[in-house]
Amino acid sequence: MTTKRVSRILDDVHEAATSLATNCRILLPMTYSKNWLCLLGLAICGLVHAQTLQAPQANPKLMPNAAQGKRLFEKHCASCHGVDLKGSDKGPPFLHPVYEPSHHGDAAFQMAVKNGSRAHHWRFGDMPPVPGVSPDEVVHITAYVRQVQRQNGIN
Ligand code: HEC
Repeated sequence: MTTKRVSRILDDVHEAATSLATNCRILLPMTYSKNWLCLLGLAICGLVHAQTLQAPQANPKLMPNAAQGKRLFEKHCASCHGVDLKGSDKGPPFLHPVYEPSHHGDAAFQMAVKNGSRAHHWRFGDMPPVPGVSPDEVVHITAYVRQVQRQNGIN
């Protein structure tokens, strides 16, 4: 583990603790007897942070290339997410506000490709992991998705 990575984890822990402290200050006066809510808060923070930390890391020096991403998307993703991101009977379209960057950030793409995704927004069933697509390739795919989303006013 590099020092940079350790300090990033410490930053995350610090951020979680700070937001917990803020939540407790707000919650405690209202629900003095229910300060287990704070623990629940910490557990949720922990889960969210653990998930973010586990996202596969691409080469940070990589230049995202949407044209390359288009080819990779067509090969690995379009069978479900549709040509031009329009969706199919097996998967949702990415031209939908639920997939704008603030709802599903780039890490969600790394996570979905590596681990798959439980059906939670739609009724297409679970997305299985997509083997043989590297984190760097996911960066190109995400660049392509963001480009087409922007062209369609989703950003
Ligand atoms: C076998 C079909 C299938 C393939 C192939 C597929 N997906 Fe999916 N994907 C789905 C389905 C279905 C969902 C929606 C799950 C839900 O939320 O209901 C989904 C959801 C997602 C999500 C949202 C995850 C979340 O956090 O909600 C992302 C990101 C994603 N897919 C990216 C990709 C990428 C990138 C590829 C190609 C490398 C790909 N998918 C290939 C079926 C597929």
